[in-house]
Amino acid sequence: MCGIIGIISTNGNVSRMLRESLKRLEYRGYDSAGIATIANGIIFVKKDKGKIDEIHRMLNFDSLPGNIGIGHTRWATHGQPSRENAHPHLDCSGMIAVVHNGIIENYLELREELSKLGHTFRSETDTEVIPHLIEEFLKSNKSLEEAVRQALLKVKGSFAIAVISSKEPDKIICARKESPLLIGIGNSQMFCASDIPAILPYTRNIIVLDDMEMAVLTPNSVTIRRIDTGEIVNKDIIQVSWSPEEAEKGGFPHFMLKEIHEQPRAIRDTLRVDEKALEIFVQKILTADKIYFVAAGTSYHAALAAKYMLAKLAGLGSDAIIASEFEEQFPGDSSGDSVLIAISQSGETADTLVASRIAKNAGVCVLAIVNVVGSSLTRLADHVLYTRAGPEIGVAATKTFTTQLTLLSMIAAKAARENGMIDLDEYIRLNTELNEMPRKVRDVIERIEIKVKQLSKHLANCRNAFYLGRGISTATALEGALKMKEIAYIHAEGYPAGESKHGPIALVEPGFPCIFVAPPDSTYHSIIGNVTEMKARGAEIIVLTSKSCDDVIKNANTALILPEVHPILSPIPYIVPLQLLAYYTAVERGYDPDRPRNLAKSVTVQ
Ligand code: F6R
Repeated sequence: MCGIIGIISTNGNVSRMLRESLKRLEYRGYDSAGIATIANGIIFVKKDKGKIDEIHRMLNFDSLPGNIGIGHTRWATHGQPSRENAHPHLDCSGMIAVVHNGIIENYLELREELSKLGHTFRSETDTEVIPHLIEEFLKSNKSLEEAVRQALLKVKGSFAIAVISSKEPDKIICARKESPLLIGIGNSQMFCASDIPAILPYTRNIIVLDDMEMAVLTPNSVTIRRIDTGEIVNKDIIQVSWSPEEAEKGGFPHFMLKEIHEQPRAIRDTLRVDEKALEIFVQKILTADKIYFVAAGTSYHAALAAKYMLAKLAGLGSDAIIASEFEEQFPGDSSGDSVLIAISQSGETADTLVASRIAKNAGVCVLAIVNVVGSSLTRLADHVLYTRAGPEIGVAATKTFTTQLTLLSMIAAKAARENGMIDLDEYIRLNTELNEMPRKVRDVIERIEIKVKQLSKHLANCRNAFYLGRGISTATALEGALKMKEIAYIHAEGYPAGESKHGPIALVEPGFPCIFVAPPDSTYHSIIGNVTEMKARGAEIIVLTSKSCDDVIKNANTALILPEVHPILSPIPYIVPLQLLAYYTAVERGYDPDRPRNLAKSVTVQ
C-alpha cells in the first residue's frame, strides 16, 4: 500500500502542495518518498528513503520548480527501502516519470524483455518497468496518452499510476486497476490521488476512477477513457463532506474499523505472492527434520492455525511456540535440518527476534513471514515472505492476521501437493477458494456487521466471556478472545472447547456468554456436545457456524452464519465477526479501540 499524488495548476509552483498532500497520505506508507516536477522541458526529481519530513529537511522538496508534478510515499513490496527503489521512477531518457501503487505481477518477464531491447534499470522495483514500457511505445510516434494505455495493456497485476513527460508537459496521465485512485477538480488546478485526505484542502469535488479507467488531466479539463477499448467514459462529480480527520480514516470513525473493512483488499494483495520465495519456504519445510513456528500475540494465533494446517493437509508435525517461551523449549538442532518460521507483523517484536536469533545461532534455517519490509526480522531471516496488508495503524492486529493466515494456507497447500498428501483436485479447490476469499470476506462484513453491532450492546454489560473452538478453530477462538480483552477490557478466555469441561466450565452460570467457533469441519460433531454442556448450565450461546449446521444453530441464542470454506481456510472468514464484535463492544463501553491502554503497536522489549 503506497500513496500517490499528481497536481497540475495554472497558479504557479506545485511542489509544496505535492509535499503537503504526501504528508496526508503518509498513513499509506512511510519508508521512502519522492516528487518529480517539470519546468523548462526538464524533469526534476527528489527522492530518498525515510519519512517525508526527514527527506524534506535534507533535500527541500519545496525548491522543485514547475506547475506540474507527481509524488509518492512508499510502503515497500519489491526491494528494500532505498533511494534507488523510491518513486518516481524514470525511463532511460529521463523524460518520463511514474509513481505507482500496486503490484505488477509480470514485472520480471517485462524487465527481461525490455532489457533485451536495451533498457537499463536502476531499481529492484516492479514499477520501473512502466516508464520503460511507455518509452518503448513512444518510439512508434504514439501520444503519451496512447503509449500509457498500450503499456498498461501489457502489465498484469494491480496499479494506480500517475505519469508525466517533459515531451508533453501540459498534462498528467493517471490510471487505475484494483488500487484506489480519484481525481480532484480544483480552480484551474487538477489533482489525482490515492485517497481523499491528500486533496481535501484544495477541493471537495471528486471523480472516483473505476477499474481499467485512465484519465488525462490538464489544469482545466479531465478526459476519462477505458484502458481496454479507449472509449470515452462520462462520470459524475461527487461532493465530499468529510472533515480532514474523517477523511484520513476513509470515513470510518476508527482506524481499526477501517482496517477490518480493508481485509478483502489486503488478502487479495497477499495472494499475489512471490512464487520463488513460496517455493523456497515449501522446500525448506518438506526437507526439515523439525518445524517450529514462533510468534507473539495475534501472530502466535496465526502460528497455531498454521500448525493445524500443516498437520491436517500435509501430514507434517510442527511446534507452535510463543516466542518468549522458545528459549526454554528449544532442545537445539542436533540434525542441522530444523526450520523455524517466525511470524510478525512489525518484524520488530523483541521476543520473536530473540527466538529467531537463538535458532539461527544453533544452525536452524530461519524463514520469516512479515508485513514491514526492511524490518529487523527480515534482515535476520534466511528467507522472507511478505504479507501485503499495508501499514496497520490500529494497535489491535486485524488485517495482518488474515493476511498471515492467507500466506500460511498457501504454504500448507503447496507443501501438501508437493508431498502428495492432496491430489490436484483438492489443490485446485484450495487455490480457487483462496482467490474467492476477498469476495467472501467482503460479503461477511456486509451481511454481519449490523447483527454484530446489536450483539455488542449486550456483551458490553458482561464481565466475562468464553471463546471456544476445536481443531483449527481453537486458534480463531483464542484470537477472538484476545481482541475482546485488549480493546474492550472484558475478561475473555479462549479455550479448546473439548478442554473446557476439565475446569473452566465451573465458571459458567446463567447468562455467561459462550461464543463457539463451529464451522462444519471434522470437529463439528464433537463441538455439538460442548455447546449442549454449556447450554445445560444456563450459558448464553453465541455460535459462528454455517447454514447447514442445524444442531448448533438450534441450541444457540444467537447464530452468526458464515460461508462454507475448505476446513483449513475457516479462520479467515470466521475471525472477521469476532474482530467486529470486539470493536463494537469497545465503542459501546466508551473506549477508543485504536489506543488500548497499556499496549504498544510494536513491543520492542523482552
Ligand atoms: C494483538 C496484537 C499483538 C501483536 C504482538 C506481535 O492485537 O497486535 O498481540 O500481535 O505484539 O506483534 P508482531 O506481529 O508485530 O510481532
